[in-house]
Amino acid sequence: MSLTRSDVAAKILADCVAEPVDTFEAFAPVNIALCKYWGKRNALLNLPVNDSLSVSLAKKGSTTRVHRIPGAQEDEVFLNGQPVDKDTGFYKKVVAHIDLFRPLVAGCLRVDTVNGVATGAGLASSASGFAALTRALVGVYSLNLSNEQVSILARMGSGSASRSVYEGFVRWHKGVRADGMDSFARPLPEIWPDFRIGVLTLTSDAKKTGSREGMQRTVDSAILYNSWPEQAERDIARLEHAIAVRDITLLGSTAEQNAMAMHATMLASWPPLLYWQAESVTALQKVWQLRDDGLQVYATMDAGPNVKLLFEASAESDMRSAFTDMDVIVPFG
Ligand code: DP6
Repeated sequence: MSLTRSDVAAKILADCVAEPVDTFEAFAPVNIALCKYWGKRNALLNLPVNDSLSVSLAKKGSTTRVHRIPGAQEDEVFLNGQPVDKDTGFYKKVVAHIDLFRPLVAGCLRVDTVNGVATGAGLASSASGFAALTRALVGVYSLNLSNEQVSILARMGSGSASRSVYEGFVRWHKGVRADGMDSFARPLPEIWPDFRIGVLTLTSDAKKTGSREGMQRTVDSAILYNSWPEQAERDIARLEHAIAVRDITLLGSTAEQNAMAMHATMLASWPPLLYWQAESVTALQKVWQLRDDGLQVYATMDAGPNVKLLFEASAESDMRSAFTDMDVIVPFG
């Protein structure tokens, strides 16, 4: 019989002694994958087909405060100060995450999340949101857990949240165990102070197909997906090397090719999936032209139309002139 999320959480929390406090606040950064998480070997536990590697965006992320509300019958969820309707998928996902901890400590909570990233900025907030929620829950119950255990619990909320538990460059190890107890992220030791990420917000239209559904459709219907694990394995080795020697050409070209390969598998799905808008293509073509002109700039995209640019400090002023509405992030600032 397959394991449930609660079974896995129970294994992690089995030896914990909870000493609840009234309230606890935690922050977790957004992360951008340079080698993407694309495809699951277990959809219930968010166990991935491949290892992935990301960079966290320092101060851009989610801040989540949880308060215990003794006597309350239901959890309350607030997003950016507004109450979240109990019928929404968002509310249900948050409550399901709290439920993982409920066998240890009964009672309802109020969860207040503030996303420090403007809505529609093209930065995934579910990764930072679930990582911050997990850290806040661990904090409010004063649980003595390792970062790897926190990463596993965050992963069960959203796969990419496993990486948002840390700053800097982070590798999520896919693991091989059926219970996913070896599927967690770990930070890489390297820092790269000159590394920059430019975020282009091209459109804030809500996407029709979420990444969870898009990922599943690709795995189920695209023959091209068969080549993805090999692509990811090659790319992650190249990225680790590029980070170790601070080689922007190798890092950027690998990340861009990885993103294009992921989008190729989506296009090869049925029905086909294309997250790009006309503005995305224009931005990519501009990146390619700038590169032809000698500027070291590379692009990556996730399950949405917005484009993120990878470059070093030496290219920053040229990049700011080329993309006047770009938000520049210094991950190791
Ligand atoms: C394209 O982590 O949002 O951004 O595990 O189903 O919640 P679930 O998926 P999610 O997928 C992220 C996919 C991606 C690539 C990445 O971040 O690695």
